[in-house]
Amino acid sequence: MNELEHHSGDPYGAKDGKDLVSGITVFPMEEHVMRRADIDPKAATRAERQVATMFTLAILSVFAFVVSYVKIPNTKMIDVPILGAANANHVAIGLFFGLAILLIGVGAIHWAKKLMPDVEVIQERHALTSNDTEREAVASSFQRGKAESGFAERKLIRRTLLGAMALFPIPLIVMLRDLGPMPGTRLRETIWDKGIHLVTDVTYNKIKASDIPIGGLVNAVPENLLKIEEEDGNLNERGKASIILVRMDPAEIVSQQGEAWDYQGILAFSKICTHVGCPISLYQQRTHHLLCPCHQSTFDLSNSGNVVFGPAARRMPQLAITVDSEGYLIAQSGFKEPIGPSFWERG
Ligand code: FES
Repeated sequence: MNELEHHSGDPYGAKDGKDLVSGITVFPMEEHVMRRADIDPKAATRAERQVATMFTLAILSVFAFVVSYVKIPNTKMIDVPILGAANANHVAIGLFFGLAILLIGVGAIHWAKKLMPDVEVIQERHALTSNDTEREAVASSFQRGKAESGFAERKLIRRTLLGAMALFPIPLIVMLRDLGPMPGTRLRETIWDKGIHLVTDVTYNKIKASDIPIGGLVNAVPENLLKIEEEDGNLNERGKASIILVRMDPAEIVSQQGEAWDYQGILAFSKICTHVGCPISLYQQRTHHLLCPCHQSTFDLSNSGNVVFGPAARRMPQLAITVDSEGYLIAQSGFKEPIGPSFWERG
């Protein structure tokens, strides 16, 4: 890299606007003009303070973000011009986080414009691989840039910048709180248990084995789901406990996941795809294949719900069922393996 300082002539060896080597028209650089901060130490100090002030304000913005996040109730609404009603907590944390980023950026630009070296340089095109000499030149150029940037000498700027950068990740960490508590084993467990009746989805009617014809498919949920949903109002348990029932000729069952887990050819499987969790109920009666509409994973329900096609890496979990004394379908137990995507297999 050739550094050209105070050019008053043409750095390309051009004559009458023509490069002597290539013949391409080039234009001479303008006369270099010194900045105020280059020639006046007071102006340099003033610029330094301005930059440090911006970095300090960035630090304060991060603190203001954290205080707003913790102190402003998440339910408080305010009127914002143009936007109308908005959540006060969101407005405040967005404002302060944006301000912190802006101040760090503006401070850095101001620093570069007012205090960092202001010389024109030319870099020749060269082979992509650098030789040792060039590497050394880059290293020494870096060291010179470091010295000229004043990062080492200008302690006020350095400290405030490092302070702002160190605190900058805090908003990101604080916001992790909104992800809620750790799930523990809740994603692996469902509300299915021994003796729980299978009821139809939507109407919650108990299902008799005799109600399902061969070739039929019924969407079902556990009978205790309705009470849970009425009490806590969320659909998490439904998302995990939904199942499908299919009936086939018992002679067509090649294998199943446990001994006598079917009832007279009625098999119960999770409705949640083991790929990434789409609900499935596309059933092909002739082949006993269950097809996921999201990415076309296909499971053979006559053969333990094994994957026969597609990206799913795990079979469809089966629920062992039987009937009560009145012929209504009940679960023999809960699922023996986690339902849904196989996130839990990742160590
Ligand atoms: S979610 Fe079923 S195949 Fe992807």
